[in-house]
Amino acid sequence: MLDIESLFGSDRTKPACRQIYGISGTGKTVFLCESVRKAARSKSFGGKHRFIIFDVKADGYQTLAPPVFDSETAIEKMQNDRVVVVHPDIINAPTFLDEIISHLFEVAGYDSEFSATLIIEECSTFIGSSSGSIPPSIKRMATQGRSKGLTMLLVNQRALTNKWTDSQSQGITMFRLAKPDSKMLYDRWGLNADEIDAKLSQNKFSFAHYDLEDLSVSYYDPIQIPDLRVPIVMPKKSRFTRFFKFLD
Ligand SMILES: Nc1ncnc2c1ncn2[C@@H]1O[C@H](COP(=O)(O)OP(=O)(O)OP(=O)(O)O)[C@@H](O)[C@H]1O
Ligand SMILES: [Mg+2]
Repeated sequence: MLDIESLFGSDRTKPACRQIYGISGTGKTVFLCESVRKAARSKSFGGKHRFIIFDVKADGYQTLAPPVFDSETAIEKMQNDRVVVVHPDIINAPTFLDEIISHLFEVAGYDSEFSATLIIEECSTFIGSSSGSIPPSIKRMATQGRSKGLTMLLVNQRALTNKWTDSQSQGITMFRLAKPDSKMLYDRWGLNADEIDAKLSQNKFSFAHYDLEDLSVSYYDPIQIPDLRVPIVMPKKSRFTRFFKFLD
């Protein structure tokens, strides 16, 4: 069963990666954004847990926290903020990602109460199809993360074709899939993606979860978007407070 603890939490006995697929506009970001909003307020995650969203698409998580644009500011923010949204520019993104991951390991190394969830949007920007085409920092996160309380969510529009990430993954959350992906999912997991997709097509923004440990598929209703998407980290100064100015 999928819940926010199993989606974002670290389990020291299970692989550190989770994968999220679905073609554009099928609800991945809404699902993750609202799930982070809930998790960030939940007692299930320790006071020192951090949620870091690394989003090259710069789209959809701004209601959680005002975005920052480089790794240095992200690392600074992590000291106090429970949720950090990073909008890296595409050129520097790989370096920023390396720096953030190495920071997570550093903090986890000296503070055993620290834990973190790193969400990497559009991860095919960083991960190619062979094991050799995965940055060492992502490999490190996948293989050594769990013993340090670090989890990584790989989000992509298409199913990742990288077999190595599969061996490090706990589960796949699927939104509506691209047709060519169904054969691959069948060959790799024996998953009948056409059948799953047919079921998802009946309920817009619904999703399925495939547990790679017990090989079970479960289905979920669409996430409810709250009427008021209250930020976890408030923007510093609201434009409303600056609208009326005091006389000198
Ligand atoms: N659970 C939902 N309830 C209502 N509307 C939703 C829901 N999920 C998504 N939507 C609507 O669909 C739009 C697209 O969803 P979302 O941004 O989550 O897609 P995505 O899968 O992340 O797409 P992309 O791959 O392009 O980033 C949202 O802006 C929202 O308007
Ligand atoms: Mg999205």
